[in-house]
Amino acid sequence: MTVFDLPRRVSQPSQFGRVAVLMGGASSEREVSLDSGRNVLEALRGQGVEVVAVDGIAALGQALREDRIDRVFNVLHGQHGGGEDGIVQGAMEAAGVPYTGSGVLGSALSMDKVRSKLVWLSLGLPTPKHVALRKGDDVHAAAARIGFPLIVKPACEGSSVGISRVFGEGDLDDAVQLAERYPGDLLMETLIQGGGEYTVGILDDRALPSIRIVPAGEYYDYHAKYQAEDTQYLCPGLTGDDELAVQQLALQAFRALDCRGWGRVDVMRDRDGRFWLLEVNTAPGMTSHSLVPKAAAQVGLDFAELCWRVLETSMGASS
Ligand SMILES: Nc1ncnc2c1ncn2[C@@H]1O[C@H](COP(=O)(O)OP(=O)(O)O)[C@@H](O)[C@H]1O
Ligand SMILES: [Mg+2]
Repeated sequence: MTVFDLPRRVSQPSQFGRVAVLMGGASSEREVSLDSGRNVLEALRGQGVEVVAVDGIAALGQALREDRIDRVFNVLHGQHGGGEDGIVQGAMEAAGVPYTGSGVLGSALSMDKVRSKLVWLSLGLPTPKHVALRKGDDVHAAAARIGFPLIVKPACEGSSVGISRVFGEGDLDDAVQLAERYPGDLLMETLIQGGGEYTVGILDDRALPSIRIVPAGEYYDYHAKYQAEDTQYLCPGLTGDDELAVQQLALQAFRALDCRGWGRVDVMRDRDGRFWLLEVNTAPGMTSHSLVPKAAAQVGLDFAELCWRVLETSMGASS
């Protein structure tokens, strides 16, 4: 028996009304989002939910004007025309249409890794030591403050794009150049090593079992995330008190950013066993490689049931 054995809150597909599955968009994560969206669409349709596919924010505007849309299942990933950053959430609020996932504030804060860290730090939640950098700032001085090894990443991207590990001065300029190819500011932070990488799915304000990610290569990069078949996912990723601790930390991190409904919290562990928060994803992937579906399966929720439960979270206060 787990907290996820609770019965469905919505029993009939017709109670959801006509559901737009919002996917695709124009972010760098478009292809992943289309893949997620198609899976969600099929899973909901297979359970009798009336669904329509909507590609991107402009198409959603049109659908809301011309079509009857009762709620939105949002699987847009990323920002810049994506839909994970608060912009489309604001539009949906303005249109008065209920939607899955976090609202304006939670989405916008989570998309910005630096501001996420500032909130966590203010609450005493652990996140790696960092320096936020504008393009053109003195990266060598920043690196001296953090110390090697460190990691450089764009402050507002996803899918591990633009990220490099830096083990010494010699690699720093290349890492910064790569991260600078993406819009927005940069983030430099301490590289956490030795205790593994974890991610914790959140569903309906409860933590799913953690997943330990064990890439075959050194590092969980874009290839390992979306293409490699040899990345291992262990779920639950930990046992006993350690598992409870990582779940509790993830839930605190999620709530601190005012996130709602569902999401996924990325965490690293150091060799002393301490956990460090990296980021929250407010519209996580729903592809065959995705992690929230794996964690949900561990508590007996198959993909179709997960989609149903996520959709149920749109029936809260705003519906
Ligand atoms: N401080 C860090 N220490 C060690 N590894 C990190 C750190 N930050 C990021 N990584 C690695 O890079 C990956 C992507 O970083 P993350 O901050 O989750 O950004 P995103 O998933 O949005 O690209 C992580 O899954 C992890 O493997
Ligand atoms: Mg991540």
